[in-house]
Amino acid sequence: MQINPLSDVLGAEVVGIDVGNLEDETFDKIHAAFLEHHVLVFRDQELPPERQVGFAQRFGELDVHIQKDNKHSGHEAMQILSTKKVDGKYVGSPSAGDAWHSDLSYTDIPTLCTMLYAVEIPEVGGDTEWSNMYQAYETLSEETKEKLEGLHARHTFNRFRNPRVEVPEIYKEIGKERYADIAPPDAVHPLVRTHPETGRKALYLSERFTIGIEELGEEEGQALMDELIAHQKQRDFIYRHKWNLHDLTIWDNRCLIHLACGGVPEGQIRHMHRVIVRGDKPF
Ligand code: SIN
Repeated sequence: MQINPLSDVLGAEVVGIDVGNLEDETFDKIHAAFLEHHVLVFRDQELPPERQVGFAQRFGELDVHIQKDNKHSGHEAMQILSTKKVDGKYVGSPSAGDAWHSDLSYTDIPTLCTMLYAVEIPEVGGDTEWSNMYQAYETLSEETKEKLEGLHARHTFNRFRNPRVEVPEIYKEIGKERYADIAPPDAVHPLVRTHPETGRKALYLSERFTIGIEELGEEEGQALMDELIAHQKQRDFIYRHKWNLHDLTIWDNRCLIHLACGGVPEGQIRHMHRVIVRGDKPF
């Protein structure tokens, strides 16, 4: 097995292994690399759904996403993200992840890691970006770090309550009320979280899910969020992944935010299988 860093800021590719068939000792090395690099890319994996699910379960208990429409028919915990249409209807979500976020931060127990597998890739577009929230926190001024101490942010799934994101046509069709029905109650988390395994501090907010800061008034809270959101999207913190067919990526939502970059031309297919592993309550 070889582990090759993909950028100075985050990410490493792992070559020479089959994730569906790993000794415990090799898994321990992969787990250590995951904590060190935050995103791992496994090349050339042959992964029918049950093998992807099996590998994900080595990291922890799988979670079932609240958006049930895009579930894989044979695996409740697997979601399909896809630009493919059958009889005029998308077979999976075509727009999941289209604004910067950390998975399930709008729930009390957000995601530990996400695993995304490229079943089909387009010729153009469909990249994914991750931004390193350890670095985002560590590069703040001492004055800002002090200001953030003890602050908590409110996260919601409901796009209609977040002026920073667009509401795609498919959700406008569903309607504000039905969309609100599938959203769980808001979650409130520390604005700076401590990674439970590394002990490092990471900035914990995102454009997609964070709508306010509990301890501050609306104007002051939104101004601080604007500042932090601009800071966390700096190119210096970001790695952009151009997918190869049968890449499997896994990333640590406790210290990263990520973005599905889109840009897949009409008629080209990006078809991915996603599973998420349940984390613990941010502190
Ligand atoms: C996600 O946000 O989980 C999806 C990312 C992607 O499809 O690139």
